[in-house]
Formats: sequence, structure tokens, C-alpha cells
Amino acid sequence: MSDAPVHIAIRHLTKRFGAVTAVRDVSLQIARGSFTTLLGPSGCGKTTILRTLAGFYEADAGDIFFDERRMNDVPSHHRHAAMVFQDYALFPHMTVFENVAYGLKVGGVRGDALRQRVGRVLADLGLAGLGDRMPGMISGGQQQRVALARALVMEPEILLLDEPLSNLDAKLRVTVRAELRQIQRRVGITTVYVTHDQEEALAISDRIAVMHQGEVVQYGTPWEIYYTPQRVFVADFVGTANLLRGRIHEVEAQRFTLELAGRKIRVESPGKGLRPGEEAVLNIRPEAIEIGSIPPADPGPNVLEGVIRTHTFVGQWVRYWVDVSLGPEAAPHEFVVDVPDPRERGILEGRVFLRLDPRKIHHLQGA
Ligand SMILES: Nc1ncnc2c1ncn2[C@@H]1O[C@H](COP(=O)(O)OP(=O)(O)O)[C@@H](O)[C@H]1O
Ligand SMILES: [Mg+2]
Repeated sequence: MSDAPVHIAIRHLTKRFGAVTAVRDVSLQIARGSFTTLLGPSGCGKTTILRTLAGFYEADAGDIFFDERRMNDVPSHHRHAAMVFQDYALFPHMTVFENVAYGLKVGGVRGDALRQRVGRVLADLGLAGLGDRMPGMISGGQQQRVALARALVMEPEILLLDEPLSNLDAKLRVTVRAELRQIQRRVGITTVYVTHDQEEALAISDRIAVMHQGEVVQYGTPWEIYYTPQRVFVADFVGTANLLRGRIHEVEAQRFTLELAGRKIRVESPGKGLRPGEEAVLNIRPEAIEIGSIPPADPGPNVLEGVIRTHTFVGQWVRYWVDVSLGPEAAPHEFVVDVPDPRERGILEGRVFLRLDPRKIHHLQGA
């Protein structure tokens, strides 16, 4: 995957709407055949980037390249890019077949060629028997696939998807996203996907560009984004963060310690570039914290005592919110701890001990 050539290059893209800078100096390289997701909260500029790629918006500054070719002045219908919108925008008065055939007809395809191309795409997307139905007579998941069929039948080189699953209910969203990923792999089409749903982004993408206020703040694989977020925003937006703000105490080659309200938190990862005395922010994920009601025999530096404030049970795991007192003056620090398969131990209550696994604490570069 990483060896694939660059297909889409966005260079220093800026797009304004009046006084609002929707996209600010974004640069991104997207590999051919990859599934790349723009992820971020509402209003961060995701749709604006997608529409600029599609040719519906003109860049105020910066360039868009598809392969080696600069696209800024190439009209939308010559970009070989197809976009699927959040609301599908199916023609309600046309059958499924006619919806999918529409773009080809406009392009002059007729007769057997038309029937074959539409038929093949409908079959590919599991819509074979539905050609004669009206969009109002099929389910939401099927409508979504018709919208996708309508884009794919044009045989575009680039597929642009703007929150295409957000109108589906939760369970269907998970099924359809797996299907979407399979179709994308099979067709091998370079895909740029927009969502505000972090779990969806982790599940579906080769690479994720996390956006915040018009900028891309981190670009990496789902694994990199989840385990090595570079900023507090990313740690917090993707998954749940337990942030530890303190001062670096000691630094060795393969480990370092953080001083946190008089305690030492040990971290077993290279403390490269860190200097004693400087402020730092660490993160540990909720599933990397052990919790128990008996004090550990060997307390060690990373054991914290706390009190369970509340919990929530969601079936496959239980999540605890634990207040840890970090000194007489400070307000209690809240830790979020996830315990998978809580059935044997039952639900914990009251006083507990947390152990932060020193191998699973991550230092955030640019807090
Ligand atoms: N056509 C437009 N006219 C004016 N402002 C817009 C327009 N489109 C987007 N914006 C503004 O640009 C910012 C980014 O919007 P958008 O790209 O739609 O974000 P997202 O898709 O991430 O929710 C927002 O502040 C939004 O209000
Ligand atoms: Mg949007």
C-alpha cells in the first residue's frame, strides 16, 4: 500500500467563504487505490476539501493534482471523479435502473451497452432484482448502494464519499461500511471518504487525515492515529484519552519518568528529545489501565488509588470513571478505565487501585 504511487496531491490548499477560512494551507498525498478518510468534527472543512477535489469549489490558494496533472482549472465533469452525497440525491421519479443509467445516457451510451454496464454494477452491488423499483420502495441501505452504483457505473478514477452512511441506523451502518470497503478493494478505486465518526474512520480506512478548524493535524494509519496521537486534540477526538500533565523527571535511553503531583509515573518507551524539568502531556487509553479493589502486593510507581464515581455497562465491556486524588489542593483527576468481559469479576464499587501499564503510556509531541 505505502509503495503505491501518489494519485491525489493537495498542496497548500486554502479555501475561504467570506470571512471564514474553511480550509487552511492543507497538504495531503493520497496513494493510488487507497481508502483515505477525512475525519473531524462538524465544520472543520471536510466537505469543502471533497468539493474542491470534485471541482465544485475553486481553491483560493494552493493546487490539486491528480497524478501529475494540475486540476485547478479542469472542469468537474472532466476530472474522472464521482461524488456520493450524504443524502444520496437519487431522482425520486426514476427507477433504480434509470437512476444508475442517467449519467451514462447523458454521455451518449445507449442500447445493449447501457443495459450491460448498468446491469453489471447493479449485480456487483447486490441490487440485481431491484432495477424496476422506485427509490422510495427500497430500504435506506439499498438506496445508499444505488447512489454508489450511480457513481461507480461512470468508471471514475476517484470516488469521493461525503458521510454516505450517516442516514442509516447504527447496525446497518456497520454492515454497509464493511460492504463498501469490500467493493472498494475489489474495484481498487482511489477513495476519499468523509466522516465525523471516529470508529467508522478507524474501521474503514487505510489512512486517516484528522482535521481541526480547517487544518490537517495528523495523517496516518488508523493504528498510528489511535496509539500515537501527536496532539491532545487527536488523542481526545479518536478514542478516549486519559491525559497526564506533569513535568519530565528522569530521562534514560529506553524509559523516562513524569512527575505528577509529587508522584513519579514511569514510562517504558524511548524518551528521545525529552529534557528533565520540561512540561509534558502523556496519554494512556482506558483499556491499558488495570483496575482492582485489592491493593497490589508490589505497589510500584504507577499505582494510583481512587474511588469509582460511576460506571456504564455496554455488554462486551464495562467503563468506570474513577476519581484519583493527586494532592490535597488539586481537584480529583478523573480516569476512564475499560474492563472487557466483566462477567466473572462483576461490577467494582468504591475504593480501587489503578495500575498504568508503563509500556502503554504515550508521550504527546505537540500538546
Ligand atoms: N457554501 C458555504 N458558504 C459559506 N460558508 C461555508 C460554505 N460551506 C462551508 N462553509 C463554512 O466553512 C466551514 C467548513 O465547512 P464544511 O467543509 O462544510 O465542514 P464539515 O464538512 O467538516 O462539517 C464551516 O465553518 C462552514 O460554515
Ligand atoms: Mg460536511
